[in-house]
Amino acid sequence: MEPITLSVIKADVGGLVGHSTVHDDLLEKAEDLLEEALDREQILDYFVTACGDDLELIMTHRKGVDNEEIHRLAWEVFEACTAVAKQLKLYGAGQDLLADAFSGNVRGMGPGVAEMTFVERTSEPVVIFMADKTSAGAWNLPLFKMFADPFNTAGLVIAPSLHNGFRFEVHDVKEHKRIFFDLPQEMYDLLVFIGSPARYMVKAVYTKDGEIAAVSSTQRLALIAGRYVGKDDPVCIVRCQGQFPAVGEVLEPFAQPHIVEGWMRGSHYGPLMPTSVEEARPSRFDGPPRVIALGFQIADGRLVGPVDMFDDPAFDEARQIANTLATHLRRHGPFEPHRLPMEEMEYTTLPEVLHKLASRWEALPD
Ligand code: F6R
Ligand code: MG
Ligand code: MG
Repeated sequence: MEPITLSVIKADVGGLVGHSTVHDDLLEKAEDLLEEALDREQILDYFVTACGDDLELIMTHRKGVDNEEIHRLAWEVFEACTAVAKQLKLYGAGQDLLADAFSGNVRGMGPGVAEMTFVERTSEPVVIFMADKTSAGAWNLPLFKMFADPFNTAGLVIAPSLHNGFRFEVHDVKEHKRIFFDLPQEMYDLLVFIGSPARYMVKAVYTKDGEIAAVSSTQRLALIAGRYVGKDDPVCIVRCQGQFPAVGEVLEPFAQPHIVEGWMRGSHYGPLMPTSVEEARPSRFDGPPRVIALGFQIADGRLVGPVDMFDDPAFDEARQIANTLATHLRRHGPFEPHRLPMEEMEYTTLPEVLHKLASRWEALPD
């Protein structure tokens, strides 16, 4: 069987209103262009959606990961949608397109990318997670729970197909290095790093025999641009069932909202709230950060679905907890630990203010 590639490429190319949602005209423009790509058999299938102000292109094809043609297609869709956003004077039109022209691969040019290539199983369920108002690294805790925590994933204990554990690929995005850990044997070593998600990110998870299980986008906009240009708003693809965690085990980490960086001005910690696509419209204090989950069955590259997995009253309590946490953190106003620590504020707009005040500091008297 010929392998297929599932590519999720996303960018914020303009918001309605402010940084809240994506206008329908942008979704329609993206759908029209991907329909044309389908007609000329460049891709096998596509689905366009939005999480908050991020436009999400989900595509299947047979060209492999990091394929120039597919990346160019995504870039051209984002450019065309930017033009629509400019006509409507949407907010931050073209925000995430950091380069003037496409040059081979969208990685390093602003958009976030998660892609994986695999041979379809008899039945191939996948869940695609997409977040807004948070950073790459937000997937560390949920990916750990899905693939390494027996309190989350019952299959790690009771299913022979999962009992061997998984292999984690971790990237150091500051030093541009990577390392692999075999779980559960090296669990404590893994946690040394991924507990600091601003720098160390779970890029991918594999079965012990090398089958891809999950992949995330690890692009950090601030590191690419060298200045604050909005948050990464990352995506993550997870294969489910069989030798992978069940769909319910993959969704379960989001039942307890964890605290992520992002939210207002990309400068605050807040809870990651799981919502339906319809409810992924950050409002309060430009948040709180959202995560959506779309489930598909892939059939010869066709995206059968989606099912909006968090559109379920079983996640009402998580949303309630997220609201309670949000209110408590908001009470701290400009104080840490609501505001990010100084080291992380380096990647926000704060340094400009610091610069203005620098000359006012004087030495302490002896
Ligand atoms: C966070 C985000 C918003 C903006 C805020 C200020 O990821 O996008 O919270 O940072 O609305 O936006 P600007 O600087 O564009 O006025
Ligand atoms: Mg925006
Ligand atoms: Mg966004």
